Amino acid sequence: MEKSELASEDIIKRRSIFYKAFGIYGEPAGFYDFGPIGLSIKRNIEGIWRRTVAEHQGFIEIETTTLAPEPVFKASGHLSTFTDPIIVCSACHAGNRADKLLESHYSKKSDKAAITALRKMDITSMEAEIKKNKLKCEKCGTELTGKVEYFNLMFKTHAGQGTAEPMYLRPETAQSIFMDFKELYRLNSLKLPCGICQSGRAYRNEISPRQQLVRMREFMQMETELFYDPKMDFDKTSLGEYAKRHRIFDTKILFAESGKEPKEITIDSLISSKKVPNAYFAFLIYKDHEFMQRIGFDHKEYWFREIEKEELPHYSRCNLDVEVETSYGIVEITGIADRGTFDLQSHAKVSGADLSIMNGEEKVLPSVAELSIGLDRVMLAVLDKKAIDDKERGWKWLKLSKEISPFDYSIFPLQKDEKLIELATRINEHLKGRGLRCNYSDSASIGKRYAKSDEIGVANAITIDYQSLEDNTVTIRDRDTAEQRRVKWESIA
Ligand code: ATP
Ligand code: GLY
Repeated sequence: MEKSELASEDIIKRRSIFYKAFGIYGEPAGFYDFGPIGLSIKRNIEGIWRRTVAEHQGFIEIETTTLAPEPVFKASGHLSTFTDPIIVCSACHAGNRADKLLESHYSKKSDKAAITALRKMDITSMEAEIKKNKLKCEKCGTELTGKVEYFNLMFKTHAGQGTAEPMYLRPETAQSIFMDFKELYRLNSLKLPCGICQSGRAYRNEISPRQQLVRMREFMQMETELFYDPKMDFDKTSLGEYAKRHRIFDTKILFAESGKEPKEITIDSLISSKKVPNAYFAFLIYKDHEFMQRIGFDHKEYWFREIEKEELPHYSRCNLDVEVETSYGIVEITGIADRGTFDLQSHAKVSGADLSIMNGEEKVLPSVAELSIGLDRVMLAVLDKKAIDDKERGWKWLKLSKEISPFDYSIFPLQKDEKLIELATRINEHLKGRGLRCNYSDSASIGKRYAKSDEIGVANAITIDYQSLEDNTVTIRDRDTAEQRRVKWESIA
């Protein structure tokens, strides 16, 4: 059942994991800041993406500007097609997203057929449906009687004085990867198939930001553009050899055919049944699955959903969305798209540059498969799904995988005793010197400190007691079992 808050909402607030930006002013919505613990978890998730995807053999990562001039988005199609349907309230002038209003109206009535039909609905029919059902403004409750129009989601500004050089904040990180592709390919001795990745900010002037990190106006994407030549036999490429060595296509995932419930299936069967265009696309499914596993999701906690033709973005010939069931309902956290040669071709046309490359003896304009992961939405899914409401223990805590936990160890002297504090400080500095992330605290009772350590997901807490002063041993408490074992502290790292 859909709820109005996340399972870890109280922890998120109490520990400032993330919070509304410019809160003292209130508006505008859709912007969030991250406190130290949230930032650490977010960076760790990004680190897993880097290790599983961006650092794959033959892949590179870049960082590019977030602002770009108008021709870039003319070429990419975002100027003309990156829109959502809006209906403005005649009383309070708030914009309402027309399709989302109808979607929530139909889902309240459990009208699945109407939800499916909505995917193919044009703005004239949306307007008629809103009026027929007397839908109201989400902000002030006035009945909506205006026109449904398309609203472009890009933020616009200008370079230099005046308005002669229009610039836009990028709505996806991908475009620079396409523009820079040819030079990067040449200067980094890349060979097809190769991946160019980027983790960075994207901006969308969402009509109705909502559900915290789900629909923000400034957010993070971790994107991979996999360039390949469809004429090359995948099995004979470096990726094909990797796939064979690790039998990646035997991996079982949950797949939801359009309009159907998710069911378990091998990635290989998606290729053979032509549900995905080719093995290059399937390779990205595997990479995303690997990423999700390392973050700590069970493969039954997310699924790959087939996207209807009518719902495809303007640049895509085939899309799968990765979805998770959260307290806010089903949330798309990742998109996998078959962008073909759309982007390279468009940039070549608008800029006049030849973006084809030499693949051996042959001149090729590569095709592209894309893996676009929304870091904030992944983070939200983690904070929601990994919250344990532990009645026995008496506190709620986050069961985070070790790799994304904000600290490797909490370090606690049993009491506020000078000798215990001195040894605990020494151990803290020793472990930090070994590259471990430690969270030292000597305030409050030991029970309260365990609770505070558990609630942000630290897997182990080291306690320094009077025996430690005698024999250099400490206790290590396991977050999941609350069991303690004694070890020599120098053996920890
Ligand atoms: P939606 O349909 O929910 O608006 P989308 O299909 O427009 O999402 P994509 O364009 O495929 O999303 O973007 C790729 C990824 O970027 C998404 O899977 C999501 O994780 C993330 N993303 C997109 N828009 C937002 C947003 N407004 N706030 C936070 N993350 C976002
Ligand atoms: N790069 C995919 C998207 O942001 O839509």
